[in-house]
Amino acid sequence: MQIVILNDAAEVAAYGADIFSTQLQRKAESVLGLATGSTPVALYQELIRRNREGLVSFKDATTFNLDEYLGLHGSHPQSYRYFMDEQLFNHIDVDKDKTHVPPGDAKNPLTACQDYEARMAAAGGVDLQLLGIGRNGHIGFNEPSSGLTSRTRVKTLTRETIEDNARFFEEGEYQPHLSITMGIGTILDAKKVVLLATGENKAEAVHAMVEGPLTAACPASALQLHKDAVIVVDLKAASKLKDIEFYQHIEAENQKLQDYLASL
Ligand code: PGA
Repeated sequence: MQIVILNDAAEVAAYGADIFSTQLQRKAESVLGLATGSTPVALYQELIRRNREGLVSFKDATTFNLDEYLGLHGSHPQSYRYFMDEQLFNHIDVDKDKTHVPPGDAKNPLTACQDYEARMAAAGGVDLQLLGIGRNGHIGFNEPSSGLTSRTRVKTLTRETIEDNARFFEEGEYQPHLSITMGIGTILDAKKVVLLATGENKAEAVHAMVEGPLTAACPASALQLHKDAVIVVDLKAASKLKDIEFYQHIEAENQKLQDYLASL
């Protein structure tokens, strides 16, 4: 894993935006894996800005979101389809027909999961997958105990996740407790993965992901198996890492290597 430790959330968003911009500049028809939650919002705002300024285009890109609440239609304001339209898709030059979010209103959720996997495969697989991390170490809605080779499926949300997401729902409003989520195996199939984490409340999960054992108890620890996973955190989210100086040293050495290669 590449561990990038930055000062604050704004720097994390800009770094993430650079990774997405580079990906799209290298391959305009990239397949992007996208995420919801509070963390990616600043990254999406930066991508919208760059798109408006003509610095990056999504015209030929295809997107697949990680997850969706089961039981919510895409027109529901708390659905992840609605979130993506509002936070990103409505503001960039992406072809909406090429944006995919698992169908929360699927009549048959099991076949919908298989269909989602088939669509990803038909698109050539995900080139770059964006991730957040839950306080319990989840990625997508792969809660602790999720199989490390799991595929897209229906998952039950933990009480902690339901409580963390309750802030988005009105008092007394129905809040789903099931989801459709890409599996951990699905996520690991992406060619490159970038996970963003900011704030002190993610520090324990970041420590478990990076320095803990590979375990289904911390689904994000599965990224230890990925050959190109970039973990981008601010100082607060990094605060429980034991080897901060070593990770910063690696980054400095990496930069020197990049500079040398660029000078050839
Ligand atoms: P957050 O969610 O960005 O809203 O903290 C992250 C996640 O649960 O994956």
